Amino acid sequence: MGMSAHQSPRMKNDEWLTPPEILAPLGSFNLDPCAPVVRPWDTAANHFTFKDDGLSKPWHGRVWCNPPFGREAVKWLRRMAEHGNGIALIPARTETAMFYECVWGRADAVLFIKGRPHFHYVDGRRADFNSGAPICLVAYGKRNAEALQRSGLGIVLPIERARSTGEKDNG
Ligand SMILES: C[S@@+](CC[C@H](N)C(=O)[O-])C[C@H]1O[C@@H](n2cnc3c(N)ncnc32)[C@H](O)[C@@H]1O
Repeated sequence: MGMSAHQSPRMKNDEWLTPPEILAPLGSFNLDPCAPVVRPWDTAANHFTFKDDGLSKPWHGRVWCNPPFGREAVKWLRRMAEHGNGIALIPARTETAMFYECVWGRADAVLFIKGRPHFHYVDGRRADFNSGAPICLVAYGKRNAEALQRSGLGIVLPIERARSTGEKDNG
C-alpha cells in the first residue's frame, strides 16, 4: 500500500499521531473530530473517536483534523471545507481529486511542511521511519491561514477562494 493507506507503506493503519512539534506552533484547537481512543496527549479541548463517529457529530469552533486516510479522507476534508474553521493535515498530493475538490479554491492557505515528519504511535513513541511522502497543512478561515504563516513549519501558499463555492468563512 502506498499513500492511499497513509503516507508510507509501513503506516498501514489510521493510528498515526501528529508530531507535537507540528501541533504546538499552530495554537490551541476546540475540537479534534478524529482522535484515538487512547492518546498520549490532547490535540484539542474536545475529541471525537471512532466510537463517537466524528463525522456524524456536530463540529464546533477551531478544528484540528488529521483524518483517517485512504478513501475515507475526502469525507473529512469535505467536512472541513464546509465547517470553514480549522487546519487539516493531509498528504501534499496536489494533483488529486480530493485536493481539487477540497483545497484548491476552497481553503485559504496550504503549508508545505519542510522535510518528512515522523508520526507517533498511540503510546506516544515516535516512529523510526518518516512519512515517506510530502505532507501539507490546509487552513480553512483567514485566522487559520495566519496561524500557518506564523508557524514556521514550511512554505505557505495563500489560496484564492473560488467565487462559486459560496463557502462561509468562520475562521
Ligand atoms: C491519522 S490519525 C490522527 C489522530 C489525531 N487526530 C492526531 O492528529 O494525532 C486518525 C484517527 O482517526 C480515528 N478515526 C477513524 N475513524 C474515525 C471516526 N469515524 N470518527 C472519529 N475518529 C475516527 C482513528 O482511530 C485515528 O486515531
